[in-house]
Amino acid sequence: MSPGMIKSPEKMMEKFEIIKPLKGTVLSIQTDRLVLSVYKPSAAPLVTDYLTQNRDFHKPFSQKHSYSYFTVAEQRSYLRSDLRQFERNTQVAFWITLKVNPESIIGRLSFYGLIGGCMNTCYVGYHLDEECQGQGFMTEALNAGCDFMFKYYKLHRIEADILPENKRSISCVERCGFERMGYNEKFMAIDGRYQDHVMFVKLNPEVEM
Ligand SMILES: CC(C)(COP(=O)(O)OP(=O)(O)OC[C@H]1O[C@@H](n2cnc3c(N)ncnc32)[C@H](O)[C@@H]1OP(=O)(O)O)[C@@H](O)C(=O)NCCC(=O)NCCS
Repeated sequence: MSPGMIKSPEKMMEKFEIIKPLKGTVLSIQTDRLVLSVYKPSAAPLVTDYLTQNRDFHKPFSQKHSYSYFTVAEQRSYLRSDLRQFERNTQVAFWITLKVNPESIIGRLSFYGLIGGCMNTCYVGYHLDEECQGQGFMTEALNAGCDFMFKYYKLHRIEADILPENKRSISCVERCGFERMGYNEKFMAIDGRYQDHVMFVKLNPEVEM
């Protein structure tokens, strides 16, 4: 990827610390309360537990999944694919755990569709465990994740597309410095049908072109 010019990376307010990758991960960064990790395929049972527990809660905000999606075998294959994309610099898919309980996943934060060249952009998607809402965990993860992507992938912008009625998600991106920049009609198939999305963008204040 061809990076934009970073003015003064050392001056960026970092909200994360890169730590020695934890067992079963290839990258781990930590924030005040969280660890964000890119997992190896061996984490499939943990991931499957999290997704299964939140299946009904996530359904109105996700693409439609078949029964087999919620199996360890299929999640192992998704993790393999995530890892390949991470190695090719096209995606960074973090799984979120609490520092105090690294054995249980509480969410996912994925930066995907990385494009370099004259665009230097990507999309972001995320979800939390239903029981972990209302505590600022996604705000903390998204702030750290965006800082990380800006610093190490030298992106110019990060885009979040959100259903207009998803007030919690809109509040979260606004808290993290995203601004509303448009409206994408029939943008993504969510819960089985193409739905309109509001486009929010966070620009990297450190990139000068
Ligand atoms: C979208 C989603 C991640 C938002 O979760 P969330 O917990 O509301 O997000 P935040 O981390 O920003 O937390 C904000 C809440 O924590 C509270 N909070 C507590 N401590 C906080 C802190 N230190 N910092 C920020 N907020 C804090 C805020 O007051 C706010 O609560 P409120 O909405 O009840 O007022 C979650 O609702 C979810 O997973 N939804 C289903 C999937 C989904 O919609 N994904 C996004 C698709 S675009």
